[in-house]
Amino acid sequence: MARSPTEDVAVEPVARLVGHVAVPGDKSISHRAVLLGAISEGETHITGFGRSADTEATIAAVRACGVAVEEDGRDGLHVQGVGLRGLTAPNAPIDCRNAGTLVRLFTGILAGQAWQEFELVGDASLSSRPMGRIVDPLRRMGAGIESADGRLPLGVQGRPLHAITYELPVASAQVKSAILLAGLYSDGETTVVEPVPTRDHTERMLEMAGAPVTRRPASVSVRPAERLALPSVEVPGDFSSAAPFVVAATLVPGSELHVHGVNLNPRRTGLLTILERMGARVTVYNRREIGGEPGGDLEVHTAPLVGTNVRRDEVPIAIDELPLFGLAAACARGESVLHGAEELRAKESDRIDATVDALRALGVRARATADGFRVTGVPARLRGGRVSSRGDHRLAMVGAVAGLASREGVRIEDADAVTVSFPGFFELVDGLRRASNVPEDDRR
Ligand code: S3P
Repeated sequence: MARSPTEDVAVEPVARLVGHVAVPGDKSISHRAVLLGAISEGETHITGFGRSADTEATIAAVRACGVAVEEDGRDGLHVQGVGLRGLTAPNAPIDCRNAGTLVRLFTGILAGQAWQEFELVGDASLSSRPMGRIVDPLRRMGAGIESADGRLPLGVQGRPLHAITYELPVASAQVKSAILLAGLYSDGETTVVEPVPTRDHTERMLEMAGAPVTRRPASVSVRPAERLALPSVEVPGDFSSAAPFVVAATLVPGSELHVHGVNLNPRRTGLLTILERMGARVTVYNRREIGGEPGGDLEVHTAPLVGTNVRRDEVPIAIDELPLFGLAAACARGESVLHGAEELRAKESDRIDATVDALRALGVRARATADGFRVTGVPARLRGGRVSSRGDHRLAMVGAVAGLASREGVRIEDADAVTVSFPGFFELVDGLRRASNVPEDDRR
């Protein structure tokens, strides 16, 4: 289903941000819980599910392939697994909408559904994104995949697969995951070699489901599984949805904000390392395991920032937060440079150009480079202005954070793009604004 551009949302400056927030369940883990639940034996009970346009697309996709998924309140799901080889091909194409994680991971699974034929399509943004990165390695495994120009639509003919060893040409957790999932259906040990570590949620959840996974510092292998069983998954809060609040509280003077129950997998929290280097005051407390992942609560205090350079090896672990880094850099003293992030051009929008255009529209000195951007920061409130989300949820959130930390406010065009990962985002921002305006004495 195509999402048509929606009305603008104006985010006014806020004097300070004070209070407590919790964010929806992690999008990457929510996708994986539904997909692995679908090919497990028996039921998978998912709690803390991050309900969003992207993850709804995953529920619809597995339902289309014969998997019963029952809703259990706002963030619970019961997935009735059909086993590794039990998916059935629908008569119509599977619509992956805007969700890159869905199309890439599901293709790995469908490639192993012997002798069934599937077609995968998506919206305009997803249809412009590169799929050759999964088509090439899956074909090496013997998969039958058709793609006219390395883009959607993909035609998948399920077949018995061969094990391969594959060195990732781009650091991508989606590509790694597609190969590992296909490896469940192969004839030996499938190994993915990673030049730089990327998020490891697939490996963790496969282990939880009983798959034979071997992890090494720079590679991961999987052997064919007899069966998977994943009785329950507790999804932790999404670090990528917490990040806008972390940056907002860092930038807005006099703030003290707590974000609770956040996934703090070190392969996701590169932004925290970068922000700390810039002088941010973020403390982790109540460290605990949430659903087989490291998690905890965050306490953020406003802090003056200095510019920094982000290196290529830091990019994968901060990939979805790099537009927010650009915004933090705009309010830091001195110049900041992002290196080695050409992958940002292949996201829901070209996030290098989109970030730089948004910053410039707010009065910031910023310049795009082939593999990142340069930002000259000024340690003061941003002017404000009008930015376009370009239909990209992460950019809409950057606009909102900029509005809170601005002098004149920010108007965000096509702000509804946030529903792709965080449907209640603007309501949470509003609630926080109101809570932050309550005088100290009334807050208790
Ligand atoms: C994701 C991996 C990353 C990330 C995306 C989610 C995942 O994409 O940007 O939002 O769930 O595996 P790439 O694998 O393309 O880097």
